[in-house]
Amino acid sequence: MNFDKSTKIAFIGCGAVGKTLAVALSRAGYSIVAASSRTYDSAKNLASMIEGCIAYETMRDSTDQADLVFITTFDSVIQEVVKSIPWSSNQAVVHCSGATSLDVLKSAESKGALIGSLHPLQAFASVDKALQALPGSTFGIEGEGRLKDYLTQLALDLHGKPMFLRSEDKPLYHASAVTLGGVLMGQTAVIAQIWEDRLGVERNEALKTLVPMIRGVADALEANGIPGGIAGPYVRGDVGTVKKHLDSMKSVSVQAMQMYATTALAGLKFAAEKGVCKTKDVKEIEHLLNAYISKNPL
Ligand SMILES: NC(=O)c1ccc[n+]([C@@H]2O[C@H](COP(=O)([O-])OP(=O)(O)OC[C@H]3O[C@@H](n4cnc5c(N)ncnc54)[C@H](OP(=O)(O)O)[C@@H]3O)[C@@H](O)[C@H]2O)c1
Repeated sequence: MNFDKSTKIAFIGCGAVGKTLAVALSRAGYSIVAASSRTYDSAKNLASMIEGCIAYETMRDSTDQADLVFITTFDSVIQEVVKSIPWSSNQAVVHCSGATSLDVLKSAESKGALIGSLHPLQAFASVDKALQALPGSTFGIEGEGRLKDYLTQLALDLHGKPMFLRSEDKPLYHASAVTLGGVLMGQTAVIAQIWEDRLGVERNEALKTLVPMIRGVADALEANGIPGGIAGPYVRGDVGTVKKHLDSMKSVSVQAMQMYATTALAGLKFAAEKGVCKTKDVKEIEHLLNAYISKNPL
């Protein structure tokens, strides 16, 4: 069969990603006909957002209606869910996990179904926020032939950027994304806590200052690239300021000091590329940071 906007789509797993993709695809003119989930309530909730979509109590009833099925359950149950469905050779099944290979879909492939994955590289905090964030997002795609072409068109119709992944590159692709998200979430939370503990600003109040700053940094990177968008005292070669920062972070905790030092060290290579800081100062800052990281402050 040909895959196009009239292809009947079902969703299994009606959480943040399932609901967001189903609504976004329906708005883009795709035909979302069926939904099922672990609980019937979640399926009814998704179906209530989309005209023409019916909630089914069983996954089997839902997949019977569809030519293409998105599996948007927890990663850990994709394989068992796929195994429980009697696929046919005129169906396709696609999961949305960035961390999972296509192997979990092999039982569908053995029945003749086409298999693929479509991973939206975005955080799905809530359906409304995720719908706003999807345009411009990258969609990691695995699959072959006409399914690959279809998933590519689908990503473009969501105003996203398709990115083709070789299965051997997928762990690194996903680890990079998780590291980036983790750095932003984890370090922002640590800084907000420092503001609460040491500067007397309640941590969620602090976020009102810190989150706009994250957007500013992202804008600078987008506009000026690497190394143009890299900034900070180590770019300027300001050794004295870096030392003061390290000591003030050390007064909070060794972990805070090491977080400052390892982050600065990671950026130093790119700061040096910018050519603003003299090589001698880069070396001095590197030495200073390494000394603090090894807990032997100069
Ligand atoms: N969250 C993100 O930022 C993000 C980003 C990109 C990709 N992904 C991927 O997208 C997929 C879904 O993630 P999510 O964030 O949407 O998860 P989620 O909000 O926790 O939703 C998962 C859904 O799966 C359903 N489910 C769990 N076990 C099931 C089973 N045995 N049978 C049928 N349905 C089952 C749950 O059903 P009930 O509601 O009925 O209990 C829930 O609605 C995952 O593969 C994830 O790796 C997530």
